[in-house]
Amino acid sequence: MRHPVFAANWKMNQAPADAKAFLKQFMASYPRQQDRQVLFFPPALSVSVVVDATKDRPDIAVGVQNIHWEDAGAFTGETSAPMSRAAGARFVLVGHSERRHVFGETEEQTSLKVAAAFRAGLVPMICVGETLAQRESGDTNAVIIRQLRAALATLAPNQVANCMVAYEPVWAIGTGKTATPDDAATAHRALRLELKGLTNDREEAVPILYGGSVNRGNAGVLLAAGDVDGLLVGGASLEADGWSGLVRT
Ligand code: 13P
Repeated sequence: MRHPVFAANWKMNQAPADAKAFLKQFMASYPRQQDRQVLFFPPALSVSVVVDATKDRPDIAVGVQNIHWEDAGAFTGETSAPMSRAAGARFVLVGHSERRHVFGETEEQTSLKVAAAFRAGLVPMICVGETLAQRESGDTNAVIIRQLRAALATLAPNQVANCMVAYEPVWAIGTGKTATPDDAATAHRALRLELKGLTNDREEAVPILYGGSVNRGNAGVLLAAGDVDGLLVGGASLEADGWSGLVRT
């Protein structure tokens, strides 16, 4: 059985000094666990601090929240995959709902970013999710499958088998509303079936995380839902003791 993955997406929070204080507290209250993996996605400026603080902990890894699809060049304000890898990141979020809906990231861009991640040796965590209108019109599965296929379009099956996927319904992010465990299981099942073809039958190798208003109270039931292999957490990952408790779920 795969170990559950607990991923903290700090979004635009935790400056370097805040990240340092957080990790001091978290590492003191969370000794190494053999049966779960913890990922931190700090803002780019705090990546080095988190890498440093967790370097002796094989159960903890660090990722970036975004990359540009080019490896270097005149792209003011952007961060590349190779420089993220050089700073110690091993993962990258691609296609997060806020990138798609606040910054207008297209499906073509998600595919370019996934390819850039692989060139640099970063594992992409591909985020997919439907809006409330899409859910209400019965399009949930069609939307998330289309987003998944588009993001993975350039990859060979063995590369797809090395990705992670996160299902985050847009209407559940930061709203206090979560998918029911049944809704999450239905969406995750559809993603798993699609991954079967995309991985040449290695779909079980791909962790599929649920995200959207996860907290200590609902983490257990969501994690117990079918095909849910981990949790991608925003707000409830920002306070060290709360996160330490959630990760023990
Ligand atoms: P919240 O947990 O704050 O709803 O955010 C979810 C999310 O977007 C994680 O990537």
